[in-house]
Amino acid sequence: MRFGHFDDERREYVIDRPDTPLPWINYLGTESYFGIISNTAGGYSFYRDARLRRLTRYRYNNAPFDFGGRYLYLRDAGSGEYWSPTWQPTQTELDEYECRHGLSYTQIASGYKGIKAKVSYFVPLGETLEVWRLQLTNERESAAELSVFSSVEFALWDAQDDATNYQRNFNTGQVEVEDGVIYHKTEYRERRDHFAYFACSEPLAGFDTQREAFLGPYRAWDRPIAVERGTSSDSVAHGWQPHGSHHVRITLEPGESREIGFVLGYWENPKDAKFDPPGSQTINKQTVRPVIERWLQQETVDAGFAALRANWDRLLGTLQVHTPDGDTNRMVNIWNAYQNMVTFNMSRSTSGFETGIGRGMGFRDSNQDLLGFVHMIPERARERILDIAATQLSTGGAYHQYQPLTKRGNNDIGSGFNDDPLWLILGVAAYLKESGDLSILDAPVPYDNEAGSEQPLYDHLQRSLQYTLDRLGPHGLPLIGRADWNDCLNLNCFSDTPGEPFQTTENATGGVAESVFIAGQFVLAAKELAGIAQCVGKPHQEYLDAAEKMAGTIAEHGWDGAWFRRAYDFYGNVIGSASNDEGQIFVEPQGMCIMGGVGVEDGLAVKALASVRERLATPHGVVLQQPAYSSYRLELGEISSYPPGYKENAGIFCHTNPWIMIAEAIVGNGDAAFDYYRRILPSAREAISEVHRCEPYVYAQMIAGKDAPTHGEAKNSWLTGTAAYNFTAISQWILGIRPELTGLRVDPVIPSDWPGFTAVRQFRGATYRISVTRGAVRALSVDGQDFDPAGVLPLAPEGSVVEVNLTVS
Ligand code: BGC
Ligand code: NOJ
Repeated sequence: MRFGHFDDERREYVIDRPDTPLPWINYLGTESYFGIISNTAGGYSFYRDARLRRLTRYRYNNAPFDFGGRYLYLRDAGSGEYWSPTWQPTQTELDEYECRHGLSYTQIASGYKGIKAKVSYFVPLGETLEVWRLQLTNERESAAELSVFSSVEFALWDAQDDATNYQRNFNTGQVEVEDGVIYHKTEYRERRDHFAYFACSEPLAGFDTQREAFLGPYRAWDRPIAVERGTSSDSVAHGWQPHGSHHVRITLEPGESREIGFVLGYWENPKDAKFDPPGSQTINKQTVRPVIERWLQQETVDAGFAALRANWDRLLGTLQVHTPDGDTNRMVNIWNAYQNMVTFNMSRSTSGFETGIGRGMGFRDSNQDLLGFVHMIPERARERILDIAATQLSTGGAYHQYQPLTKRGNNDIGSGFNDDPLWLILGVAAYLKESGDLSILDAPVPYDNEAGSEQPLYDHLQRSLQYTLDRLGPHGLPLIGRADWNDCLNLNCFSDTPGEPFQTTENATGGVAESVFIAGQFVLAAKELAGIAQCVGKPHQEYLDAAEKMAGTIAEHGWDGAWFRRAYDFYGNVIGSASNDEGQIFVEPQGMCIMGGVGVEDGLAVKALASVRERLATPHGVVLQQPAYSSYRLELGEISSYPPGYKENAGIFCHTNPWIMIAEAIVGNGDAAFDYYRRILPSAREAISEVHRCEPYVYAQMIAGKDAPTHGEAKNSWLTGTAAYNFTAISQWILGIRPELTGLRVDPVIPSDWPGFTAVRQFRGATYRISVTRGAVRALSVDGQDFDPAGVLPLAPEGSVVEVNLTVS
């Protein structure tokens, strides 16, 4: 069952009923001012940090699930009836409804008793504000006297404090209303640097800034007293709950349309702002007023919207493909790339499943996210790499997370996830391959942000690799530390005294549990570093030797007979082996070892992939492990805390699936690679939206596995490494358009029933027009000249167009 459809031409997903299984959200903002918005206008806004600079309030885990938003109410003076043109909060049964989620904008259109309304929301480039444009049309035979009420609930900036510290916060709220603009000034006394504003393009019939005055006592958002009555009370909030509501009265003749603009924004006083008298609490309205005026003009809004679209044309223009599969085309060309950019901006902070309060930027996550956006904005990838590397510890280890505002490592969570440092090598390799910017390797980067500790980035990469070598366990495999990629496999939970409670992982970094996954990742990273070293004329053989040695250790202690083992626990017991009762085979080491090239020559890879197919594949994707843990096992940690089929306990953890697609491509099996690709491809799952339940235009982190009663149901959509890795799997391995250090490689491993495909790829300043067709033998021509079919395409001059024709058998 579908709840909408794709409009590929306009690059939109069109939702045609408001009651989607879950709120289906979109993101506003691309630079510093951001928000999430659902298909019924739920969501919230913030400046840079969703916790510390939260503009509007949201109620998590509420019923209805999605509450708090950018709401409007319309009231018909003739009948006294009122409704919300975005369905929420009144939930009036609308005659027509349509939500179009586009790239960084959302438009919700509806019709009720002859009044059509369309609300468009977006954040203009270069601004710290959002525009709401309301277009109203009277399709009745008679004039309509209408009232429009806007409504936002201001959060008192720190979203965590806002939700908990009422003894203080009910006393701090301050607003000011001047010339129809509502200024939200809470916190201004303390900091004197920022405030929010909410403005309307029309003369006001009234306003409210105190929530209770707007709603009325004991009333909720579906029947605010101000709307029911048709008049605001011009309330000015002193403490309690500052709120922003404008009231506009208009008369629309039959057939007449009108536009009303609203601007909600964030403003910081200029650093050198002078106050008169000094120290006074006057907000700096002089500097923001012209900005507000500008964005209340329709022409500015039109131009701003066009600029936003043009920016997306440019970003998505980096790779456009045309394959025989429509779902693949729309995901690669539009939605997967878009999700990658969103993930770049949000990391794991703000979605329908992440509150914006909890998590910082993950060291591991951010390096992987980079794989998905580096081709669109390499300069931002460079910045990101330098930020991440500056949080690395001098041991080569890494803080697991860092704070986006301070860019400092997070001490609460600390370090000890032993896969983390290796991701830096993989992230940097991806950046170098895309950009060719070898200069980044010489960039001085501190350790743990300590002034004076700067070393070239290359030194950080060496220490990353050395970190693993310095921490090998009893089998010569890397120590797992607190966990590896699988945050929930906490094998160093241990008890010194049998029968005593197990200690937490924080105390357990000294444990001897080992990870085959990290071993595979080490092989991959060591080879990448060797390639980089060779490219800049540094010694590289030692890295290749280390990779080979580790591959040997995997073959000796990490191979179980038909698949790669997962780990050894604190006591030296094997995990992910046929000898275990549960958790016999895990997907992660199969993907990672093969990506590192382990077992590719000697046939182990093919065997492991056959085991994956036999034991882990389901129609909804590949589950993380089998058999699921049926009870809690102290010695394995969080993994077994999940009921069977969910999350790391045998859920379809979508992030791992592209590793298997890549592995299948590496062994030359295009049918299997593409088959796995389609199983979790959101667009290909659109028709089963009642099962999948999350948005059909973006990946979710997890789909319930075969042991779960809700098999096939997705959760945790949007912010997941799944986005970047699936993009890598389809674009670089299945379609085979793969940046390398020396140039672009085209090496597709496509399904056998495809006649071919075409693609346009911008790469290092040149445009590669690629056409892949079938033929008797493999042949490659570049600009009409025969070329080594196994070779890397030569770099082309800036601005040039390179015609690439590849025939595959
Ligand atoms: C989840 C993991 C996640 C981790 C982050 C766990 O509860 O299962 O998927 O990475 O929390 O701390
Ligand atoms: C989600 C985390 O963001 C990611 O870093 C981790 O690898 C997976 N969960 C698996 O546990």
